[in-house]
Amino acid sequence: MSVHGMFFSGTGTTERVVRAAAGRIAERLGCGAEVFDFTPPGARQEPKCFQKDDLVVLGVPVIAGRVPNLLLKYLGTVQGSGALGVPVVLFGNRSYDDALIELRDIMESGGFRTIAGGAFVGEHSFSTTLGRGRPDADDLVQVQEFADRIAEKVQAGALASPIAVRGESPVRGYYTPRDRNGNGIDIRKVKPKTSEACTKCGWCAAVCPLGSINGGDPSVVSGICMKCCKCIKGCPRGAKYFDDAGYLYHKEELEAMYGGRRAENEIFV
Ligand SMILES: Cc1cc2nc3c(=O)[nH]c(=O)nc-3n(C[C@H](O)[C@H](O)[C@H](O)COP(=O)(O)O)c2cc1C
Repeated sequence: MSVHGMFFSGTGTTERVVRAAAGRIAERLGCGAEVFDFTPPGARQEPKCFQKDDLVVLGVPVIAGRVPNLLLKYLGTVQGSGALGVPVVLFGNRSYDDALIELRDIMESGGFRTIAGGAFVGEHSFSTTLGRGRPDADDLVQVQEFADRIAEKVQAGALASPIAVRGESPVRGYYTPRDRNGNGIDIRKVKPKTSEACTKCGWCAAVCPLGSINGGDPSVVSGICMKCCKCIKGCPRGAKYFDDAGYLYHKEELEAMYGGRRAENEIFV
């Protein structure tokens, strides 16, 4: 058996969980783990194909309670060809709603036999207080337990699929934030702004997962923004920010509603 991890990760929480899970499963099965990062746009140009004796941990962040819709086309090109599949989603302390079941069904349609699934908590992309610092040491212990149970399941040969996970199928609509009057807030066209602290180093343009930021003038964001916040949280000068009123209202509301609790990871093996 050959173990693989693959992930999309704006702010690194999905990456940490997928690397930890794939690494531990491989260790327990006595083989190596290969990890593929499909966050950069260039990494999503070629289809990815696996084989029957592969085990693939596939991770994405939860966006509006679902698998990021901008990744659906690419995920549809990932071919399992009978490989074992482990869907993993990272959510920002609110809820993963139907994202895990959606990713499971995408993997099953792509020819994987899903034998486990997990929803783990990561610091919310929009915030530095919501799910702050997660996945933390306690979460990583749970990732390890998840991986151990998967390895034991593989060794026992108990590989019925698809794995039963929480969520509704067919999936519900995307989670819609609402303003004070109950009207939907549409943040799809919101793009990051750039302050005078920007030195035009080009870091944000180089790392934007959608390749939407102009390298010569990073204040120009001509493509789509998925609000992954990689540029905002990672800018070496702290020069990127959002000033859209609807976005800021939604962020503050999330912090007020979900900031006071520690959401639990959920695993299905
Ligand atoms: C546009 C957008 C929508 C999100 N929607 C949700 C959501 O519905 N529920 C939730 O708990 N977290 C939500 N999040 C938070 C991310 O799922 C979470 O922070 C995740 O850990 C980010 O993964 P990454 O660090 O790999 O990018 C959303 C993030 C973004 C950017």
